[in-house]
Amino acid sequence: MANSIEACIFDLDGVIVDTAKFHFLAWRRLANELGFDFTEAQNEKLKGVSRIQSLELILQWGGISLDEPAKMALAEQKNDWYRDYILQMEPGDVLEGVEGFLAELKRNGIKIGLGSASKNAETILQRVGLTEVFEVVVDGNRHTKSKPDPEVFLTAAAALGVAPEHAIVFEDAEKGVDAALNGGFYAVGVGSPEVLGHAHFVIPGFAGVHLETILDRIYLITSE
Ligand code: BG6
Ligand code: MG
Repeated sequence: MANSIEACIFDLDGVIVDTAKFHFLAWRRLANELGFDFTEAQNEKLKGVSRIQSLELILQWGGISLDEPAKMALAEQKNDWYRDYILQMEPGDVLEGVEGFLAELKRNGIKIGLGSASKNAETILQRVGLTEVFEVVVDGNRHTKSKPDPEVFLTAAAALGVAPEHAIVFEDAEKGVDAALNGGFYAVGVGSPEVLGHAHFVIPGFAGVHLETILDRIYLITSE
């Protein structure tokens, strides 16, 4: 039942902040230096995927095979470029509507968690001033199984003391939506319905979105 929603768990990159574009720019620069390019459509496959898995996919697209130390060096180089972007972030970089939505959750006593593959999550939350808002942060330093495995969201839900069927996950990545569904959560896609078709429903972003709107849509699903 929608009125039994007790928690919302958010992905970070591409949901709370627009860092997906920084990941793309940094990976593309790396690929270009290695002598090839990849498309935005291919980039969708990198969303929600760990740094090292992303690198492996990109090297595969470029037809390049490297030993482990060389791969580690490239992953570190990409992360240095990526961090140059995120260290410039400030509170105004939180995506439109997100802070209002989070405040509404707080007012309604709904718990707030973060479930991200990123090892840079704490840095980003600090830069944009959201560290205090999330009661639980499960990030790439705290979990090992990659989305679409539900581990990251199950860990966050357990830490919040909420069962998956009483929680909503917000995700911009296809693999993240699948992770939420695999864990038994309600999955709300944030972005385009063409990419996120598996989700229970999709919103373009949080601008103009209210808790009531989300709960009404969840209620429609549960009463189907
Ligand atoms: C996810 C992003 O949130 O974090 C991926 O969607 C990224 O694109 C992954 O690869 C790991 O991030 P980081 O910051 O640890 O390199
Ligand atoms: Mg994301």
